Amino acid sequence: MLLERRNFMDKMWAGRFEKALDKQADDFNSSIHFDKKMYKQDICGSLEHALMLCSCGIIKESEYQEIRKGLISILDDLNNGVLAFDENAEDIHMFVEAELTKRIGDAGKRLHTARSRNDQVALDLRLYMRDEANKIIDLLKELIGAIKDKAEESQDAIMPGYTHLQRAQPITFAHHLLAYCMMLLRDVTRLKDAIARMNYSPLGSCALAGTTYPTDREMVAKALDFDGVCMNSIDGVSDRDYCVELESAFSIIMMHLSRLSEEIILWSSWEFKFVELDDAYTTGSSIMPQKKNPDMAELVRGKTGRVYGDLMATLTMLKGIPLAYNKDMQEDKEAIFDATETVIKCLGVFIPMIKTMKPLKENMYNAAKRGFINATDLADYLTKKGLPFRSAYKIVGTIVGECVKSGKTLDEVTLEEYKKHSDVFENDLYEEISLETCVKKRISKGGTGYESVKEQITYVTEQLKK
Ligand code: ARG
Repeated sequence: MLLERRNFMDKMWAGRFEKALDKQADDFNSSIHFDKKMYKQDICGSLEHALMLCSCGIIKESEYQEIRKGLISILDDLNNGVLAFDENAEDIHMFVEAELTKRIGDAGKRLHTARSRNDQVALDLRLYMRDEANKIIDLLKELIGAIKDKAEESQDAIMPGYTHLQRAQPITFAHHLLAYCMMLLRDVTRLKDAIARMNYSPLGSCALAGTTYPTDREMVAKALDFDGVCMNSIDGVSDRDYCVELESAFSIIMMHLSRLSEEIILWSSWEFKFVELDDAYTTGSSIMPQKKNPDMAELVRGKTGRVYGDLMATLTMLKGIPLAYNKDMQEDKEAIFDATETVIKCLGVFIPMIKTMKPLKENMYNAAKRGFINATDLADYLTKKGLPFRSAYKIVGTIVGECVKSGKTLDEVTLEEYKKHSDVFENDLYEEISLETCVKKRISKGGTGYESVKEQITYVTEQLKK
């Protein structure tokens, strides 16, 4: 329940107004219920800002000391749950400043010198998202490691590779899983790129035009681990490109997780049974006693849409607003917080789900035996014996057609029957079209051959060390 409302004329900016803000308008305008997440960043930013004001001679040393003590006590009290957020405050910035003044009196009123909420919020969100993006990088690396470990155990697991979801050519389960490692490694680099581009401090841009005080923006930037300061104050307070970039990177991560989820859902069905998910990451049905549902994978697939939505919401919010700050921009936070939480939660269940997933190698192998997935290799066999590839392709196509009718696989066709189609067929064809040979002979770099897969595992291991 909300606390008893304060007199609306208590607003920090109430000076030029004759009437209080309407209650509904006040609730509508308020962002503290979601921007309170950034209280640590807000206080850290204020601490460095105050130190800079002091070192530039803008506030007195004694005032800085009071501000410092006050801010640290607020931080401690919020951390320990001793101090509750005042839901009547307009936003986290107003809340902290008001609380500071309540605690230390006049010195608290000096903190906002040479600063605006516009550069303050721009700073807080950058600091917050930099931390979250780094957390996501760590989680991604853990997932890549888990998938790579599964691949390492599955180097001998031959399965059908698919195109159009039709059995195409034999591959190993390891090779298939490693494809996801490559995607997720790119996701890591995308996040790192975005972090590098956003790592410039907007603080000191003030409302939009900079300030008349002799501030030292670089000093604050350095203390907060930025690579420098935003070079244009109008851009400093208006830029939310980094939100769009991060949400794009999050969307791509979710798209990758969703594709793998879709495969896991298929693989764990009775129709495939290529994997068995651990009981801890599946659910039962309220009516069908036999059911074991891959809910975690389905939810990850489902939540992908939310993250795309957050990206679209931010892009659309930004597209029509003139420079510099507009209140529309307050909408950046709920979207990016939702996207961030969703990605973190999805990775949180995905990692252990992968770690505990059991590949059912025999079922994979049995599936690989049907579907003529060695037909390309049979055509290659004829080509190596001198036939043009197109003629070889046609002969094998005719043989496959006959097999479909007779219910035979290619290795069940007798040499005599093969010879009816071409006299270059010899007994060595059977060795050539065995599934193991088909895999072993795919020696091209990046292919499914055993050596190539080993090379991919080494590559992934090395990338993870970076
Ligand atoms: N709560 C606001 C936001 O999230 C903070 C900035 C407010 N600035 C202003 N000029 N009203 O965007």
